[in-house]
Amino acid sequence: MSDFLLRTERLILRPFSYEDVQFMFDLNSDPEVVRYTGNLSFKNIAEAKDLITNLIQQFTEKKMGRFVVTEVKSGERLGWCGLKWHESEQIVDLGYRFFRRHWGKGFASEASRVCLVYGFRELCLKKIAAHAMLENAASVRVLEKLNFKRTGPVNANGLNAEGFLLLRQDYE
Ligand SMILES: CC(C)(COP(=O)(O)OP(=O)(O)OC[C@H]1O[C@@H](n2cnc3c(N)ncnc32)[C@H](O)[C@@H]1OP(=O)(O)O)[C@@H](O)C(=O)NCCC(=O)NCCS
Repeated sequence: MSDFLLRTERLILRPFSYEDVQFMFDLNSDPEVVRYTGNLSFKNIAEAKDLITNLIQQFTEKKMGRFVVTEVKSGERLGWCGLKWHESEQIVDLGYRFFRRHWGKGFASEASRVCLVYGFRELCLKKIAAHAMLENAASVRVLEKLNFKRTGPVNANGLNAEGFLLLRQDYE
């Protein structure tokens, strides 16, 4: 397993491993969690494993990808957050997803901030994209708190979403 870690006051972010298959499966099993993501709940555990294979590959190749977010205090896996390279659009985006019992505690904002620091300072990215359905008020609020600017409608995973962009100069 990689020893790469990102830390915040309350959280540790680390790359996915195959020990996280059940966690990934459980997270996507809540229809409320996937409601605005364009993803369906996994039909079986093999789908969660395939996704993790992609995430491990992306971390190996590009040193980025969605990271498992663990709470320092409890050691519990709360959800995931991180940057992802999209080959087809040639863009890096920020994403996040947490178990419903942990919503509203500031975890997505806190985890996202350290991912942005990592993306801009360590990976030297010039811009980071994101998207959210406007109905997904919590996600929109997270992006606006992070200073992302709206770029207009986009089709993401078959959903009508709003595009967002954060330029390095607007972040620093
Ligand atoms: C989106 C998500 C990651 C947010 O996680 P979180 O840890 O609750 O986010 P935070 O606590 O850091 O911030 C949420 C902000 O939205 C606000 N918010 C939450 N629900 C809201 C609502 N219905 N209307 C307006 N604001 C809302 C919160 O008050 C908070 O803002 P504040 O800090 O100014 O008070 C979480 O809801 C989730 O996992 N959703 C399912 C997956 C998902 O939709 N991912 C994003 C796909 S684009």
